[in-house]
Amino acid sequence: MGHADTPAIAGLQPYWMPFSPNKEFKREPRLFARAEGMYFYTPEDRPVIDASAGLFCVAAGHCRPEIAEAVARQLQTLDYTPPFLRGHSKAFELAQRVSEYTPAGLNRVFFTNSGSESVDTAMKIALMYHRVRGQAQRQLFVSRERAYHGVNMGGVALSGLVNNRRAFGIGLPGVHHMRHTALPGNRFVRGQPEQGAELAEDLTRFVNTLGGENIAAVFVEPVAGSFGCLPPPRGYLDRLRAICDAHGILLVFDEVITGWGRIGHNFGAQAFGVVPDMITMAKALTNGAQPMGAVAAKQSIYETIVDAGPERGVEFFHGYTYSAHPAACAAGLAMMDIIAGERLIDRARELSPYFADAIHSLQDLPVVADIRSIGLLAAIDVAPDKAPGARGHEIQKRLYDAGLHLKNTGDALLVAPPFVAERRHIDEIGAKLREVLARA
Ligand SMILES: Cc1ncc(COP(=O)(O)O)c(C=O)c1O
Repeated sequence: MGHADTPAIAGLQPYWMPFSPNKEFKREPRLFARAEGMYFYTPEDRPVIDASAGLFCVAAGHCRPEIAEAVARQLQTLDYTPPFLRGHSKAFELAQRVSEYTPAGLNRVFFTNSGSESVDTAMKIALMYHRVRGQAQRQLFVSRERAYHGVNMGGVALSGLVNNRRAFGIGLPGVHHMRHTALPGNRFVRGQPEQGAELAEDLTRFVNTLGGENIAAVFVEPVAGSFGCLPPPRGYLDRLRAICDAHGILLVFDEVITGWGRIGHNFGAQAFGVVPDMITMAKALTNGAQPMGAVAAKQSIYETIVDAGPERGVEFFHGYTYSAHPAACAAGLAMMDIIAGERLIDRARELSPYFADAIHSLQDLPVVADIRSIGLLAAIDVAPDKAPGARGHEIQKRLYDAGLHLKNTGDALLVAPPFVAERRHIDEIGAKLREVLARA
């Protein structure tokens, strides 16, 4: 079912869509009207299987009544509480529940409303932490090529994707980028590549050229996600941790995608056995049903900042009007119950090999240039045609028309189903991908 002939709809014009080709979309809109479980439904009520959990958020499947009812109840009981100087019990309860999933010691939780805000919050926590310890000279950050850390100015500075930076990010000072971890020898690798741990030595290059004592924090996604699923080479994250420790640099894992079970463990930190100083998260925290993000920081970081503050004054000048919004906390708590009650993270891990088999079986298609996967996250790179990204974009549209939603980043097709997927859903995703990719 194509949309090429759909006339432009005047009523679509006022909405300025994010990260979308506005002109094209408004000529050929591809809309969703409702969703349930593994499926979106178009306005004509045509099912579209959700192969990217929306945007990596809907881990428990769409329109969970437990979450909807908790949010509705909350809005009828206490719709809003100012998060500055006032509190409500669900904020404290959710922070406690979150800290039961983070690695031991990362048990202080600062709430935000998105992944981008979590990243910028973590940057500020890092700067504040060093300042109160008498190391205010630590103003530099190190991130990585091909990284995505959201779209606020801090995250844009950290970003390693040129389209996200060239118009607004290149003048921002203070961020240096390590090499990415995509090596030609690692094509079609399932899980962590054996080759590439030495890429972590790139951090030493910055320590040597900038002075390790000037670097506040290193930000990495344990698995580079938005760019196209780059699992870390074995030993790479351990090496980053060791270099950071040797120079007093904080290590931050941006787990906005990898958090809450996407790679079969609570967080990448546990999956790879490397404990960072902070974890940023969002997305699946509320199953995508309410905007919410969080930063989990080591207790020692919290205590350092809070202890250094005045007895009755504000210790950290940062926060959002909607930090720990009651409706988001209600959604988060309902999601915590689902995660525990349905063993959601174990389910993700158990389904992973079947999922990887299905996705890697597409390797024989001529258009497929590479496939990488870990947990319930995979990227299929299609060989570029007219211009970089053009083919990936076209395929994403054809997939929608064929009844499958996924997110593409350029020529990388990102497959990340909800964890409640059953084998038949993975089969359907595999079959639809094959059908469309074979004709691409
Ligand atoms: C690793 C990472 N960090 C930050 C973000 C930004 O999150 P948000 O879009 O909620 O601001 C994303 C979004 O995909 C992400 O993948």
